[in-house]
Amino acid sequence: MTELKNKYGKWALITGASSGIGKSYAYYLAEKGLNLVLVARRIELLNEIKNDLTKKNNVDVRVIIADLSSRSGIEKVIIDCADFQIGILINNAGFGKTGIFTNNSAELIEDMINVNCLAPTLLTNHFVKKMILNRKGAIIFLGSVVANLPVPYMSLYSATKSFKLALGKTLWYEFRKYNIDVITVNPGSTSTEFDGLGIKNNNKFVRKPDQVVNTTFLALGKKQTVTDGKINKLLFFLSNIFGSTSSIKLSGNYANKIIEKKS
Ligand SMILES: NC(=O)c1ccc[n+]([C@@H]2O[C@H](COP(=O)([O-])OP(=O)(O)OC[C@H]3O[C@@H](n4cnc5c(N)ncnc54)[C@H](OP(=O)(O)O)[C@@H]3O)[C@@H](O)[C@H]2O)c1
Repeated sequence: MTELKNKYGKWALITGASSGIGKSYAYYLAEKGLNLVLVARRIELLNEIKNDLTKKNNVDVRVIIADLSSRSGIEKVIIDCADFQIGILINNAGFGKTGIFTNNSAELIEDMINVNCLAPTLLTNHFVKKMILNRKGAIIFLGSVVANLPVPYMSLYSATKSFKLALGKTLWYEFRKYNIDVITVNPGSTSTEFDGLGIKNNNKFVRKPDQVVNTTFLALGKKQTVTDGKINKLLFFLSNIFGSTSSIKLSGNYANKIIEKKS
């Protein structure tokens, strides 16, 4: 039970903890006895989770309401965590939008890049410094299968996930000499509020958030990246075999059909 706590420290910070995969990370880590800092915008959901977790487990849970699409929101997290020694940082918050690239407003483009790329970068840059001093810690990046297999009509989202994958892979190397485990986790379609292409209903290949969380902790400290689920692993493998042009044509044709059906 106390293995994670001994290895990485008492506190974990989870961004995007109000729903989906982030919420599952919170339940998993609270069960392991870690104190948590939960970050998101929806205060009622975060407080509900906090109350439930503290009732069920002997842990301290703090809530930070922050909009990670703004620099001030990201800085709020850093300031509010000044007194905590964060041992596990989970860069989970993220969102995507499906559709034709030119339909994205400048504001949405900036928000997506800030939440999906800038926030994990600045939070990692800050929290890893104490981890380096302590010679222990873990940093988890939520990527996606689309990081390796980008999907047209989800172009910006795919690009932000490729950014995270490159950041995670390189930091895995840079920080390992300080005994810090970095991993990038690539979920495929997972049943959460986020449904990029709108294909999750009644789809038997859709994974559960708890499965993504289990995949993460089985691989943390052993691997640099991990893909959740056999089908998603196969997709990765096949995209390498078919090559980039064929993979993008295939995923683009598929996404295009879904978008046309919806409109
Ligand atoms: N579900 C999938 O199929 C899938 C597949 C591959 C990768 N992923 C990745 O997994 C991660 C978690 O997503 P999910 O599937 O669990 O989706 P989700 O249920 O929609 O959760 C997204 C979380 O991010 C938070 N968030 C979004 N925008 C934010 C902002 N501006 N500021 C602060 N927090 C924000 C949300 O909280 P608030 O709304 O309360 O702020 C929520 O807690 C994401 O990085 C996503 O890209 C998901």
